[in-house]
Amino acid sequence: MRRDPPSSADVRAQITELLQAHQALTERLRQGQASFQRIARSVWRVQEEERSRFARELHDGVGHNLTAMLHLIKEALATMPDDERCRRARDELAHAQAIGDATLQETRALSRLLRPQILDDLGLEPALRWLARSFSETHGVDARLDFHAPPAGIDADRSTLVFRLVQEALANTARHASARKVDIAFDGRGERAVLRVRDDGAGCDIEAALARGRQGNSSGLGGMRDRVRLFGGSLTFESTPGAGFGMSVHFPLSDTTPGASP
Ligand SMILES: Nc1ncnc2c1ncn2[C@@H]1O[C@H](COP(=O)(O)OP(=O)(O)OP(=O)(O)O)[C@@H](O)[C@H]1O
Ligand SMILES: [Mg+2]
Repeated sequence: MRRDPPSSADVRAQITELLQAHQALTERLRQGQASFQRIARSVWRVQEEERSRFARELHDGVGHNLTAMLHLIKEALATMPDDERCRRARDELAHAQAIGDATLQETRALSRLLRPQILDDLGLEPALRWLARSFSETHGVDARLDFHAPPAGIDADRSTLVFRLVQEALANTARHASARKVDIAFDGRGERAVLRVRDDGAGCDIEAALARGRQGNSSGLGGMRDRVRLFGGSLTFESTPGAGFGMSVHFPLSDTTPGASP
């Protein structure tokens, strides 16, 4: 039996139905993505809070006990007679003092690495200045910071985001670049903040580096990109072997700015 071809009204109705179904699916996908971003950001926030607690615990607990112990050793050394009978005890105390000193330095460094208190106490700019200065001192690379704060300030999550991005970029410069200088620039004066970090080191084949990351051989670059996406931002890397390495990040300063995650 031959069927009549559908009327144009039927076709229009079917198209409208399909479009509505498509719109509903797109909306569900958008909501799913938004709630994923919210959850991932909360997990990340909890991780940072834990790191902050450990950092304080190390600094105030272990660090202060070590300081007290070192003080006692110093007192003991000062009161001990400087004669042959006490020579061995003096040497051992001096040795204990050297071990205590080194352990205190390591404890402080570990505490700062976990989460520098300066970020919570004084904010992003002083924390970045401290990071650049200590990077220069440790690695002999000239690190410069150009910082323009957002007029309305920057919230704690975004401050942490920028700090962690710069920390990972500098760690990469130290590990892979053999650079002489690195420029860090943050500008929060527009609607979307811009962060740029560029070194003048060995550079690399960026596609090959990202491919290695996808195979699970490294996580730094991919991890940075994932974090930036959680804030509705974008990140690009630029590098040519022999001509330095750079990254540019753009992200909205609030969740209500266009392009931001809710
Ligand atoms: N500043 C840089 N200069 C030169 N090469 C770089 C730089 N940053 C990254 N790379 C290259 O990109 C690769 C991937 O970097 P990524 O940070 O993802 O991994 P990684 O530093 O090797 O390990 P990790 O997972 O511990 O960070 C590096 O192995 C290196 O070859
Ligand atoms: Mg790395």
